Amino acid sequence: MRVAGGIAVALSLVGAASANAHPRAIESREFFALHIDDSTSPSYIERALGARHEGQIGELEGHHTFSLPREQSDDFNALLDDLRAKRKLRRRSGNPIEARSADPLDGILWSEKLARPRQRLHKRIPPPIPDVASRFITENEMKTLETQSHIMSTLGITDPIFKDQWHLFNALQPGHDLNVTGVWLDGVTGKGVITAVVDDGLDMYSEDLKPNYFAEGSWDYNNNSPEPKPVLDDDRHGTRCSGEIAASKNDVCGVGVAYDSKISGIRILSAAISDEDEAASINYKFQENDIYSCSWGPMDDGQTMDAPGMLIKRAMVNGVQKGRGGKGSVFVFAAGNGATYDDNCNFDGYTNSIYSVTVGAIDRYGDHPPYSESCSAQLVVAYSSGGRSAIHTTDVGTNECFAGHGGTSAAGPLAAGSIALALSVRPDLTWRDVQYLMVETAVTVHEDDGSWQTLPSGRKFSHDWGFGKVDTYALVQKARDWELVKPQAWYHSPWLRVHNNIPQGSQGLLSRYIVTGDQMKGANFARLEHVTVTMNVNHTRRGDLSVELRSPGGVISHLSVPRRNDEENVGYEDWTFMTVAHWGESPVGEWSVIVKDTVVNEHSGQFVDWRLNLWGEAIDGTDQPLHPLPNDHDDDHPYEEAHVATTTVQPVPTKTSTPTHPDDQHDRPVNQKPPQASETFPAEELDTSKPADATSPTASPTSTSSAISNYLPSFGASKRTQIWIYASLAMIIVFFIGLGVYFQLQRQKRRRTNAQDDYEFEMIEDEDETHPMTGGAGRTQRRGGELYNAFAGESDEEVFSEDDDEPYRDRLANISEKDDEGEDDSPGSHLLSEK
Ligand SMILES: *[C@@H]1O[C@H](CO)[C@@H](O)[C@H](O)[C@H]1NC(C)=O
Ligand SMILES: *[C@@H]1O[C@H](CO)[C@@H](O)[C@H](O)[C@H]1NC(C)=O
Repeated sequence: MRVAGGIAVALSLVGAASANAHPRAIESREFFALHIDDSTSPSYIERALGARHEGQIGELEGHHTFSLPREQSDDFNALLDDLRAKRKLRRRSGNPIEARSADPLDGILWSEKLARPRQRLHKRIPPPIPDVASRFITENEMKTLETQSHIMSTLGITDPIFKDQWHLFNALQPGHDLNVTGVWLDGVTGKGVITAVVDDGLDMYSEDLKPNYFAEGSWDYNNNSPEPKPVLDDDRHGTRCSGEIAASKNDVCGVGVAYDSKISGIRILSAAISDEDEAASINYKFQENDIYSCSWGPMDDGQTMDAPGMLIKRAMVNGVQKGRGGKGSVFVFAAGNGATYDDNCNFDGYTNSIYSVTVGAIDRYGDHPPYSESCSAQLVVAYSSGGRSAIHTTDVGTNECFAGHGGTSAAGPLAAGSIALALSVRPDLTWRDVQYLMVETAVTVHEDDGSWQTLPSGRKFSHDWGFGKVDTYALVQKARDWELVKPQAWYHSPWLRVHNNIPQGSQGLLSRYIVTGDQMKGANFARLEHVTVTMNVNHTRRGDLSVELRSPGGVISHLSVPRRNDEENVGYEDWTFMTVAHWGESPVGEWSVIVKDTVVNEHSGQFVDWRLNLWGEAIDGTDQPLHPLPNDHDDDHPYEEAHVATTTVQPVPTKTSTPTHPDDQHDRPVNQKPPQASETFPAEELDTSKPADATSPTASPTSTSSAISNYLPSFGASKRTQIWIYASLAMIIVFFIGLGVYFQLQRQKRRRTNAQDDYEFEMIEDEDETHPMTGGAGRTQRRGGELYNAFAGESDEEVFSEDDDEPYRDRLANISEKDDEGEDDSPGSHLLSEK
């Protein structure tokens, strides 16, 4: 950073600071990003155009910010438009280099007028804090607890909340954890690896984070200072995520997944940020920082469809191509918390990037938390809140812990920490090797829930779970002798012109494209990894649309799903959807895209065009070039008329299962058995209806509700009991009275028994959810033998205190009523964008 320290104060007054040399005079000047070639110097542009050079944009070579007084900016803009038109002509002429005139302004390769800094990124915040419940510890659990104690003493773990960190070692639901302790016992704890947490700051003065804090990799883009300290009241999210990855093994709070790895903080979420700064932030110190953990994104409200701007897209590509000595920065993104609003991670241009590892959530019972978004771009899931439990981690403060961390925000960092462990045994893994390892070692869950497809590779994929949950032990083991993949190859089809109206309701518009073996040889393309489809669909109500991609091997990717709240009067404009569901299958054969307008109403539209992009491993890695940076002249690509057919499809399913929560009344993407590829599909093959939402907690065999039934009946009578009681009352009131007396006697008896028995348990529940568990008051704590802090530690005081369970800044207080079924709550409110 070439920023003088003194400027920082001035900049923070401007609100959002730029990392460039001149403070941004936002009111009086306009800013432009220019990509210039090697032969053109920024000072030449300054002289020739009368613009002021503000500096290079982060680590993007040849990309610079220039500014002009506002009065002159229209002329400048017009000039850039002319240059853009000239470039287009040159490209059309077929030989851009040759045709280049003597005009040195031809050295401008790309330009963009820069928007003011905006607040468009949002933390993937935890849903409301879970309930706490008490129960017996069974004899089997006693054994697991002993194993846990043994592991702790072997490793010298004395961290006070380690036993609450069920995501690391789950003594109560064995197997429902990251399976990481065996990795530590093998001596792998993350040494030598650095993860940057791109967020709202990192409390480097926390005793739990201080030993692993990497100052040189850290920067505060919000206050333009080298130290990304949390400042605002709600600047806690980044610290909590950091603790999950690299909290040190000491006597403070718990430990991180990679507790001997280092952690950097990059602060971007606490104020509006410009595209230039965001681009710089995700490449910040990218030779030192190995992994970028990002638990944020566009709003998860089921209405937003937002992708990073061109500079940020380029920075991501720059990161995987040049970061980490060319092995590539590893970007990890939280999938998003908007599932209860029909949101889907393919509407988010960060999570659906091929350059990011997209991580959804799974709860401590192995169930799908209702908030966690599904999509075809989801690679894996990792543990987080749900089932009335959350992630225990470090908080802001010298010795503060937090027991209520959750949402996909908490899942992403656990995957990042696991990757840190893999990189510590194999620093030479490329960003794609990391994705391969996740794909190969993820463990499938709930295989019978109807969401899984068996792929031609033999692996299974689910839009709800990706390839499964992260198994850190398997990941690190596989990494040890992993053979590095060859460089990335790609194939882009021509733009396929469709220009057909989309039928409504029971029909879909299908367009095919056939990929040949020769094309693949020509592209030096050996095996498939990611597939992206860029498309234009215009429609007067975006939320009515859905898109499927069918591969030659019969695998179906739900690229897009209907969203009930998405009223946007546009379709998809040059939007790129991504899928990992075709990983490892042969790309040769017929690919088809089916666009559906799922609702019969006055809203309609047209499927305009699309383009198929295949990404994979090269046949011959010796001189495979790097993919060019993304550009906005993709529209110059050759056009072809597409094969189009109308197919009869079943209407989009209306869910037949009883919703477990008012917000759960939506259709999840569900999969079918792969059909035979054919030009038109019989109705039943395209039937996407499913009898039930298989991933909803009540439908799932090992759901929270069944787990809850293990709990002791509460002394304050649960709602379920109450309902039962009321039903009884309506039927036989006299019998009810007798029964009530009977139960009361039973309870008293049990209470006496409990006080004397030898089981270890702790009674820490407080049925009144609105009553904060502020330590002693209102807390019943009794012991029979030694206490085990099953669900909560002392730090639980934090759980309901202050604003931690408040949604972030954009949330309107509208917390939905909890019911008694134990399924986790939705993000709890409608998130309203500030835009
Ligand atoms: C977890 O790790 C152990 C090694 O510590 C391994 O043997 C086992 O297969 C892994 N998976 C599970 C589910 O325990
Ligand atoms: C859809 O796109 C086509 C082609 O670009 C255009 O002619 C048509 O007017 C558009 N329709 C709507 C409703 O925007």
